[in-house]
Amino acid sequence: MKIAVLPGDGIGPEVVEQAVKVLRILALDGLPIEMDYAAIGGAGYDEVGDPLPENTLALARAADAVLLGAVGGPRYDALERPLRPEQGLLRIRKELNLFANLRPVRVYPELAGASTLRPEVVTGLDLMIVRELTGDLYFGQPRGIHINADGEREGYNTMRYAESEVRRVAHIGFQIAMKRSKKLCSVEKANVLETSELWREVVIETARDYPDVALSHMYVDNAAMQLVRHPKQFDVILTGNIFGDILSDEASMLTGSIGMLGSASLDAASKGMYEPIHGSAPDIAGQDSANPLATILSAAMMMRYTFGQDEAADRIERAVSTVITQGLRTQDIHTPGHQRVGCAAMGDAVVAAL
Ligand code: IPM
Ligand code: MG
Repeated sequence: MKIAVLPGDGIGPEVVEQAVKVLRILALDGLPIEMDYAAIGGAGYDEVGDPLPENTLALARAADAVLLGAVGGPRYDALERPLRPEQGLLRIRKELNLFANLRPVRVYPELAGASTLRPEVVTGLDLMIVRELTGDLYFGQPRGIHINADGEREGYNTMRYAESEVRRVAHIGFQIAMKRSKKLCSVEKANVLETSELWREVVIETARDYPDVALSHMYVDNAAMQLVRHPKQFDVILTGNIFGDILSDEASMLTGSIGMLGSASLDAASKGMYEPIHGSAPDIAGQDSANPLATILSAAMMMRYTFGQDEAADRIERAVSTVITQGLRTQDIHTPGHQRVGCAAMGDAVVAAL
């Protein structure tokens, strides 16, 4: 089990360290885990002037799975686009062909009160966002800023999906739906966008292979509204790159904090990169106050999806539930009457629970 560990920037290194502690326990208990570190994002730029250094990509290619923290920071915002930390992340997703991004949104019963929504709206919520990750506006050509015929600056990006790109992620969505409650909602904007019109057609074609799955379609604006109105109507949400980016941040607040959501980004052979969905949070970096649970839960997803170690995944998830039940809270999920802990203490508590 070769794991490339890419801590990245901001709170990335702190939260990754906690997940690494968890993986070390699994190794002590007999899993053949090997971990190697490399730089990505701003850290890659600082080291060798490239947000995705060659040796980092080589390490990630040679590994079975990648554990990533977060990238980005104000120090790098003025760099030209190809040198910015985010490009390192987008490039590694593309280079490793990690087209299927799974973002589970699960509300722990004890955290229902930490959401900004009323507890009865979110209690018991358990949904999965399947976000396409290597196409769409993020990668479509042409893109740029140019001077138009009126002598004005004009910015443009291209929303673009080939049907094969839609089909392969749709299959993943349906397969996940088969293992859950056999309900899939495809989210797009087919009333306005041709890309979405094709998306819907291909999803409908793919659905023929999964006659047991109840398929529905929703426009993204309505989906954004329904997610806060009645989120429990959803089970699996299948959507493109940009809509999935936005909806998953929105959905994270149903759980109380974006610090609770892990993710898996998979290729066709279930090689994967595992990362929290949150960013590098430069404002709290280095203060030992970040929530490491999203990264720890990402490590659980790694065990499940890349290594087929469901038992290890369950163990990690149970340990996370235990520390929450014990009342431990980082600042982002803290409510009165609970014990406030830092990032490292939270990691230690999960290790103890393991
Ligand atoms: C995410 C992030 C990234 C994205 C950024 C950091 C490029 O927001 O993983 O959701 O937009 O995909
Ligand atoms: Mg995002």
